[in-house]
Amino acid sequence: MVDVHCHIIPGVDDGPDQIEKSIEMLKMAERDGIRKIIATPHRNHPLGYPKGNVQEQFDALKDAAKDAGIDVDLYLGAEQYIGKEDVFKTFEAFPLFDGRYLLVEFKTHIDLESLLTIVYELRVKGFWPIVAHVEMYPTVINNEEALTRIKEEGGLIQITASSLTGAVGRKIAARLTSAVRRGQVDFIASDAHGLNMRPPVLSVAQRYVQKNATMEIANRIFSDNPSKLMLGEEIVTPKTLKLRKSGRKAYLIASLITALVMAFSLGMRMIPENEAQSQNIETPKTVETVISSNVEETDPEGPVSALPVPEPKVVAEEVLSEPAQTLESPSKDSIESKYEEQLFELKTEYEMALDVYVDEIIEIKATVIDQEERNNKIDAIIDAIILMEQESDNVVYALLYDMQNELEKEKYTVERVQIFRDEYNDIKETTKMTYMEKIK
Ligand SMILES: [Fe+2]
Repeated sequence: MVDVHCHIIPGVDDGPDQIEKSIEMLKMAERDGIRKIIATPHRNHPLGYPKGNVQEQFDALKDAAKDAGIDVDLYLGAEQYIGKEDVFKTFEAFPLFDGRYLLVEFKTHIDLESLLTIVYELRVKGFWPIVAHVEMYPTVINNEEALTRIKEEGGLIQITASSLTGAVGRKIAARLTSAVRRGQVDFIASDAHGLNMRPPVLSVAQRYVQKNATMEIANRIFSDNPSKLMLGEEIVTPKTLKLRKSGRKAYLIASLITALVMAFSLGMRMIPENEAQSQNIETPKTVETVISSNVEETDPEGPVSALPVPEPKVVAEEVLSEPAQTLESPSKDSIESKYEEQLFELKTEYEMALDVYVDEIIEIKATVIDQEERNNKIDAIIDAIILMEQESDNVVYALLYDMQNELEKEKYTVERVQIFRDEYNDIKETTKMTYMEKIK
């Protein structure tokens, strides 16, 4: 597999800040079956990215990956921020790969007409624009015609793997699933920034597409299009497919079953360890295991093939599979510290993302005079913050679930899991209050 959108170069943007973290990301990608990664540091970004020398850092990463024996080829590309005002000027372009493909991102609250204008102008200038993570723009995800219109202007569509499988909420996952099934999505990439939120993992999304759309669509997204991109050949979008009703129904049933199973497994986790033992209840090892066993009883041919698989779970399983191969069991402290460290990283990522949104709100308050326009733009950003909170909740709870499983596997007590859960909620509340103060 080829990952065409990945923040993996250390110390240049909001991706990993140290080369050791980049190497861990590469190892995770390798385990997932990713064999080529186009590194896409932010370019022309309002937050001043990239910082540092991209080429030097990229070369250093390539050398370190070679020394570590990692079987993933690295290529240098970019995720280029383009404003409506930029596109009418002469600007320096940073293609994804040698050639005409540009991976472009916009302001979160961009309006659809401006987005379409940029895509059109880029085509006129001879580029083949790929709109990065379209699901992150409220103006696109809340408008059923938006993807069709982007494609009419000559734009290609990239979505984030974890968004498709539910990391930013069920509603967005359902809309993205429809888009994939209609043949509107050209690329699915990790947009990885670290090991936790949006990790460098594509296999879950690939399986999801194979099961929920068709093999032909999956091949086009995961094989044909990345190959064309790397060869510099143009991608011609096939006609939009009509969504079959049965597929939509299957997806809804699957979502409902997933919700029930998740609720069931959460309930199981709330049972204290000793009580669970006295009731002879076997703690579920993974959400995926529970989902499979429950769904198979319901309808082995139907919903099972449409189930959204929670991505963080699979990633965590892969990470956790390593210690199991060692002879010595990890200590309780080492398990707890490992998760504490990951939670701290999540907190940092969350705050950095919130900073971007807050800056946007401050800018809007300072520059947009029309009150209605101002309110609309701020509402759109608040929507995006809510989505980000949902994503954060999903990732943190999945992590705590893994922590509990790992502690229980080693027969340790699990009181720290609840402490971390409470701390997470406290931190979220405090952070929110701090930022509310900033945008008053
Ligand atoms: Fe990105």
